[in-house]
Amino acid sequence: MPASVVLGAQWGDEGKGKAIDQLANESNWAVRFQGGNNAGHTIVLGDTTLKLHQIPSGVTSPHCNLVLGDGMVVDPWVLEEELDRWHSLTEERPEGKRLFISERASVILPFHRMYDSADKVVGTTGRGIGPAYRDRIERVGIRFVDIPFVIGDSDKIDETVSRMNMQLDSVGVNQKVERKDFVADLEWIMDRFGEAIRPTGAMIDKALKNGENVLLEGAQGAMLDIDQGTYPFVTSSVTSRANATHGAGIHPGHVNNCFGISKAYTTRVGNGPFPTELPYDTGPGNHMAMVGHEFGTTTGRPRRTGWLDMVSLKDSHRLNGYTGIVLTKLDVLGGLDELKICTGYDLDGQIIDYMPTSSHDLARCRPIYERHSGFPALEEQEWIEMAELSRSDRKGFEVLPESALSYVRRIEELSGIPIVSIGIGPDRRASIASLGGPFDIDPEVTTF
Ligand code: GDP
Ligand code: IMO
Ligand code: MG
Repeated sequence: MPASVVLGAQWGDEGKGKAIDQLANESNWAVRFQGGNNAGHTIVLGDTTLKLHQIPSGVTSPHCNLVLGDGMVVDPWVLEEELDRWHSLTEERPEGKRLFISERASVILPFHRMYDSADKVVGTTGRGIGPAYRDRIERVGIRFVDIPFVIGDSDKIDETVSRMNMQLDSVGVNQKVERKDFVADLEWIMDRFGEAIRPTGAMIDKALKNGENVLLEGAQGAMLDIDQGTYPFVTSSVTSRANATHGAGIHPGHVNNCFGISKAYTTRVGNGPFPTELPYDTGPGNHMAMVGHEFGTTTGRPRRTGWLDMVSLKDSHRLNGYTGIVLTKLDVLGGLDELKICTGYDLDGQIIDYMPTSSHDLARCRPIYERHSGFPALEEQEWIEMAELSRSDRKGFEVLPESALSYVRRIEELSGIPIVSIGIGPDRRASIASLGGPFDIDPEVTTF
């Protein structure tokens, strides 16, 4: 049986957590394949809101196995907090039973967080992601499988501690790593998570051969990809489909679906060019920020807001070959008189339909817009009722107000990608699926 990939099609925070939660009921595995706790994936189930940073969003389905995959960098202390929160909510302790950490995943140490605090350019999440990946690329990092060997190798410990302190000093961070703390940290990780550390690639491969369904859960988004995004204002991993299987330790031939999650507008947290950005304090940009509660799930920073950018969505499709788009937060646009979609850029008087490679050039691009009529604002409950009507009467997207539907159809037309689900609220029930499509699932199925 196949694997499906769920990816952010923009600059992150598109609503990947909600999409994974919806699909997980029909899946046996949910696997994170890159990134770390820079991710913040939100799932809203009635009165309960889960904010997950490393635990895959399939956790809500009790039969779904969870993997922190090969391509990840994992902060064990944050994972412990997340697992404690999950335990207090459900009394379940999934680690070692249905939650596994890849032997190949890299450990985020306190050193990596300290080093990341020196960032002045990118506006990182400060979670140590870049420094942990840098160590991996330099081949001096510690993977989970390496921990017992490092604990037993006094020279390696000395060398690592001295390297870390030299690096902190070089960027003016006034903190030091103590040898005894470093060793104690590694011992704690083995005590706490030893049972969960497994050869997860082989486990997922076996599951696929046994006919099980696997979900590959992306973090961040296409425009934050280290190779293909708006460099240097990107994250430190390959966020794209090409890395979904690689970072999970399986081959690309297993994938039959790749869902791109895109907001009906655009947001971005952190620094870097954003051609369709709107003023934050006034007008539609402020409307998106306030109605959409656009504050980062991980850092709480305000998210910058702007119109939907078809140029970047098409570039993201070029990379990832989406088989379907999940269009989220359409409800947020309700109440705006006019909606705009950016269909091209003006770069120094030349019209282009792709994102220039250089961030300097991208920053000079002026968006070219087409205009659409707005649609009325509704209360959260009214949107949920609309979604329920869509399911009960088998109406699909036809329940949407006319101008909302024509906005959606135009996005399909411009992107050339079928829209398979439309988000009209944060709650799991507040989605409308295309009839017979992969998201045409009963959202009331009991989970935890
Ligand atoms: P992720 O990182 O891609 O999983 O997205 P985040 O969880 O960081 O951010 C998405 C935010 O939008 C969360 O607060 C979700 O609860 C919320 N959300 C997701 N889909 C919808 C939707 O269709 N409408 C509204 N209003 N909120 C949504
Ligand atoms: P999810 O999975 C939005 C951004 C940061 C910063 C840049 C680099 O929730 O969509 P990093 O800490 O990764 O080195 O920061 O990337 N960023 C995200 N923005 N959503 C995310 O994750 C992000 N993860 C990182 O704001 O601009
Ligand atoms: Mg997020």
